[in-house]
Amino acid sequence: ETVYAYGMTLIPGVIDAHVHMRDPGLTNKEDLRSGSRACAKGGITTFLEMPNTNPATVSQKLLEEKLTLAANKSIVNYGFFMGATLNNMEELKKATRTPGIKIYMGSSTGDMALTDPGLLEAIFAETKLPIAVHAEDESIIDKMKQELAGTKNVVDHSKIRNVEAEVAAVKRACALAREYKHRLHICHVSAGASVEVFEDHADVITAEVTPHHLFLNTDSYMNLGTLAQMNPSLKTAEDNEALLQALLDDKIQIVATDHAPHEYEEKCGRYPDTPSGVPGVDTALPLMLDLVAKDKCTIEDVVHWMCEGPALVWDIMEKGRIEVGYDADLVLIDMNKTQVIRSPNMETKCRWTPFEGREVTGWPVRTWVCGKEVYRDGKFDESRMGVEAMFDHSRGGYWEGVED
Ligand code: DOR
Ligand code: ZN
Ligand code: ZN
Ligand code: ZN
Repeated sequence: ETVYAYGMTLIPGVIDAHVHMRDPGLTNKEDLRSGSRACAKGGITTFLEMPNTNPATVSQKLLEEKLTLAANKSIVNYGFFMGATLNNMEELKKATRTPGIKIYMGSSTGDMALTDPGLLEAIFAETKLPIAVHAEDESIIDKMKQELAGTKNVVDHSKIRNVEAEVAAVKRACALAREYKHRLHICHVSAGASVEVFEDHADVITAEVTPHHLFLNTDSYMNLGTLAQMNPSLKTAEDNEALLQALLDDKIQIVATDHAPHEYEEKCGRYPDTPSGVPGVDTALPLMLDLVAKDKCTIEDVVHWMCEGPALVWDIMEKGRIEVGYDADLVLIDMNKTQVIRSPNMETKCRWTPFEGREVTGWPVRTWVCGKEVYRDGKFDESRMGVEAMFDHSRGGYWEGVED
């Protein structure tokens, strides 16, 4: 097929290395079909999902069940992390069809916090797969929650100062990664102060940042209230700047969404009963392209952070239906399209966005997965499902793939 696209820009499909698709068990919020459609529309052709579903992805059997679900429901390519629990070390050791092991050092949706320091160390010592951490210190978070419980004014949320919680956990995880030379990826870094901790990276450490930690900050609580409640919490405008600078300096390697859909009604409850997290796959690429339109970075930077970087961090191999000659995950973007982000236009099942009302320039208009067009100008073709991402963990990791 010949595609005429004068004035448009073709880039590799985005790999979103951190999403929550809620399937199985929490499908009132999202499922693998709705979440994958939102990805396709947002220019994301592969997602890697975190294990905090119900049941959580904590065994070989549950991992395979999830892969089967996705094979029947996801129109984009997919991969699933294995979650660490108090007693699944053997499962973590034998898992292969996964990008890595997710450890929650602090609690969030799904209550998977693993706070035992001995067990944390044992996972670094005894397993081989790369480790992704949600780095927040549970005891510091807990204290904060108690101080905030019962506060009625949502603006009080801006008092959540858990920079210390993140820095403490990042320090512990990095120390273990260095000691055991174990590949570590720090999820959703939210504070400039954290960057200083892993900046002198041992070759084994990489990090990610979300669009909401780049573009929202404590001022956002004014408009958003508990809609902006998330873990790790939003920090200040200075942190926004420090995080973007860290990307530009290659201290943070990838942008991932932490797409964490919750129903609008649940989010509008009263703290601390409200769930943490915001959706992101619909808006991540447009928000990053808008930085290009504003001359803050180049389109090559965006491709590096959202396409190449995640493939290198998670050892994603050439994939697709090689036998029929397809391997093309591509997104056509219109860098001249300016549009206001509106909740009803969101494809995520929860149909809201914390970026409501923001005007951005640079939008995906067509998306191909394994050579097949799955999205074009508001319409989906769901006649073929995406494929399972494959991981080659024998590579040396991100830093091996980067010459600089
Ligand atoms: O805000 C968050 N939401 N942080 C997490 O770590 C989990 C996520 C979710 O699954 O809702
Ligand atoms: Zn997390
Ligand atoms: Zn880089
Ligand atoms: Zn997450």
